[in-house]
Amino acid sequence: MTDPNERPSRFIVHMSDTHLVAAGDLLYGKVDCDANVAAALAQLEAAQFRPDAILLTGDLADTGLAEAYLRLRPQIEAAAERLGSRVIWVMGNHDKRDQFRSLLLDQEPSDEPVDEVHWIGGLRIIVLDSTVPGYHHGEITDAQLAWLRSELATPAAEGTILALHHPPMPDPVYVNVGIELQDQHKLADVVRGSDIRSILAGHLHYSTNTTFAGIPLSVASATCYTNTVTEPEGSTLGVDGAQSINLVHVYEEQVVHTIMPVHTFPTLYETNGDLMRLFNALTVEQQVAVLAMPITERMSYVSALRAD
Ligand SMILES: [Fe+2]
Ligand SMILES: [Fe+2]
Repeated sequence: MTDPNERPSRFIVHMSDTHLVAAGDLLYGKVDCDANVAAALAQLEAAQFRPDAILLTGDLADTGLAEAYLRLRPQIEAAAERLGSRVIWVMGNHDKRDQFRSLLLDQEPSDEPVDEVHWIGGLRIIVLDSTVPGYHHGEITDAQLAWLRSELATPAAEGTILALHHPPMPDPVYVNVGIELQDQHKLADVVRGSDIRSILAGHLHYSTNTTFAGIPLSVASATCYTNTVTEPEGSTLGVDGAQSINLVHVYEEQVVHTIMPVHTFPTLYETNGDLMRLFNALTVEQQVAVLAMPITERMSYVSALRAD
């Protein structure tokens, strides 16, 4: 059983679908995609987080514009530097492989899928390119599946996280097979029983969680705009609100996926961090006893500890 005081051994910020457009343009005439990315990064910095990696699961540039990548890369990399993180880029159907390779990875332009392995200590991050140039649906080719199978043949000390743009799952909100990942059973055959502990994806522009071949699958919403989940079947409604990213905390036996809104909201209450540190230093029995007190007594009890 997990120790409630255990701290995560690895921490990944999972962003998706930034959809940057030309400088000065607004997506759908309304959304400042750069500002949304900046808002998310500002919150990470304000929280004094120290993630091991910032991982972006694709649709980074809305139409694959070079200038979009040239603005996004320094924005993300500068924040990553301040947070002590590395950056992991994943292709999406709105991205262009040649621009992606040359402008984000400093590689020769190529239309080959961008499949990579990254290591955070003993935690392996496998990046799988689910895109098909010129189309919006997803495919994993037989060659990619063979590569993935051979990579997974050697387990990683801390297990593996698989990141791809198209989530391998049915879409319960938008029945739109034209943009989904095809032949999902082939991927399931490769990953089932492997050391993959979590699959991270994007593409849907709403947050959702399920399992795939017995593995947790976490879909991060978009930073640009959100697709609502309440429209009548067949309808799609994108809204300028509720944008979010995910925080992925890796523990010895669990991976926890937490949704973090991109924007801030009016404060209802605030607990002083110093008091919380004192409170957290109490034994579990003491914490339970304090929480049973009326709230005014709680604070004075914990404050009194500070005086000791
Ligand atoms: Fe997208
Ligand atoms: Fe997409």
